[in-house]
Amino acid sequence: MNPTDTSAAKIETIRCRYAIIGSGIAGLWTALHLAGHGPIAVITKSNVRESSTQYAQGGIAVSLPPTDSPELHEQDTLRAGAGLCDEPAVAILTQEGPGVVRELISYGAVFDRENGHLAYGMEAAHATNRIVHAHGDATGEEVERTAYEAVRHEPEVEIYETTAAAELLIIGGECVGVQSVNLSEGRLVRFIADATLIATGGVGSLYRYSTNPPVATADGIGIAFRAGAALQDLEFVQFHPTALAAAGYPKFLISEAVRGEGARLLNPQAQPFMSRYHPQEELAPRDVVARAVYTEMVSAHSDHAYLDFTPLGTARMRQRFPGIIEELHERGFHPEDEPVPVTPVAHYMMGGIATDLHGRTNIPRLFACGECATYGVHGANRLASNSLLDGLVFGKRSAAAMAQIELLAPAEERQAAAHEQVGVYAAPAPLKERIADLMWEQVGIIRTGDGLAQAQAQLQQWAEQIELRSQATLGELEAANMGQAALLMAIAALHRTESRGAHYRTDFPETSRQWRKHVVLRKSEAGELLVSDRSVESRTES
Ligand code: FAD
Ligand code: SIN
Repeated sequence: MNPTDTSAAKIETIRCRYAIIGSGIAGLWTALHLAGHGPIAVITKSNVRESSTQYAQGGIAVSLPPTDSPELHEQDTLRAGAGLCDEPAVAILTQEGPGVVRELISYGAVFDRENGHLAYGMEAAHATNRIVHAHGDATGEEVERTAYEAVRHEPEVEIYETTAAAELLIIGGECVGVQSVNLSEGRLVRFIADATLIATGGVGSLYRYSTNPPVATADGIGIAFRAGAALQDLEFVQFHPTALAAAGYPKFLISEAVRGEGARLLNPQAQPFMSRYHPQEELAPRDVVARAVYTEMVSAHSDHAYLDFTPLGTARMRQRFPGIIEELHERGFHPEDEPVPVTPVAHYMMGGIATDLHGRTNIPRLFACGECATYGVHGANRLASNSLLDGLVFGKRSAAAMAQIELLAPAEERQAAAHEQVGVYAAPAPLKERIADLMWEQVGIIRTGDGLAQAQAQLQQWAEQIELRSQATLGELEAANMGQAALLMAIAALHRTESRGAHYRTDFPETSRQWRKHVVLRKSEAGELLVSDRSVESRTES
């Protein structure tokens, strides 16, 4: 890679073949599969490991014979997705899943074993045990470690830490790279690339309470929208039913796998209640369990329900969930003896930057994958432990498509270096907290039309504070992206006048057949918001 100083704009310019934004599993796995095709810049705004991937607990859902099949995994994914999954995408996820998990193992990932075979855990809405896991409950750490170890030995991959991607460079309707901020030196740096991948993860920081690390500020959604990319299914935010109800951000997650091993939910009066909500009780789809816990909390005017670990027995809980038990002990909770207070919190964004089945967006040379993207696999509610799998399967597919991208023409390259846009979009950093409070109150687990309309009006006002500046702090960049993404999420949620999966509205509590479609948002060339629908794809159309 070749750093130069463009004399006119005084912006350091780095020419690479591929720019990858984000170093979670989606970014690193794509980088790994692009190795050998030219110089790759992995741009990441914190240290390389900081990502949701690093904190994943439960594991990776994968159907391996003899007890399971991709078809069974597909059926469970479709059922949990509440009618909004695109079947061709789900078929790819479940059929290509076993291969990528084997590949991850070949790169050195060590998953837990029993009697010499991979140990499969159970999580909600899966018909069978199919969750591979590492060190009991530290799967994400093992996945991230493995991918990073592999990537860092690739001579053509350079990782730019503390570098925040801020704006895409668009010339003649094509993406020719990304304008970024070197946060440690406080200056702009421009990556010019033949293909750019957005892999910036989730949106948890848009909510007052979330399991996500603070880097999850929806940057990819903001950046992509400003550049004209289509976004889809933004109204579908998954709330995890069992975060520890204790002070601090993020909220500490207590994996669904704990319920998969037999732990019971108790309401604030210490009574079991899930049988009143769903025949699968504790292992009902995540949206059902999160709403049930929330409803019990609200009706008892309590800020928590309970998770009772004792059905597992002390030995099993310590052996299977060593990290969770240790963390609980450190925080003064003793699950061996008494139920632990839990609460639902924001966890995962089902929607995102719309792509095809190879991560291609509607902007030539721009790709997206992982949690910030959607290819239609998760529908209205993601099946547990399908997200790491999604990053692996679609990261590899994105890499295959990116490898085919032609070099920029010399004239395009010169134009990219001299691109007139020298600034970045920013908003006042204190807006971040106000957005998180508003989203929690009005665009949360249970929504109303009035609340969504109020949220939209307020977010619209705040969006007027987003402006182009010659320089910005990380907090100011994040505030702009959070403000942008939050507004779009409120608009999408108000637009969908039904309840489905994770999107629940008291004014439209039923699921409506006519809403079995995706909501797509995009900015027109004139800067107006375009709202359209896209049909859900069935397998026969593929
Ligand atoms: P991430 O892993 O979040 O990575 C995003 C990267 O982008 C980070 O490196 C971030 O710093 C970087 N970034 C963001 N914005 C910018 C910017 N502007 N410029 C540069 N870099 C940027 N899923 C499962 O399948 N199984 C589980 O067991 C599981 N457990 C979970 C537990 C927790 C606590 C959490 C939070 C999530 C869990 N999930 C699980 C979900 C899953 O971990 C994530 O959906 C998945 O890891 C997302 O991967 P990703 O690569 O898309 O994003
Ligand atoms: C968990 O371990 O409960 C999280 C799993 C997931 O988000 O898929």
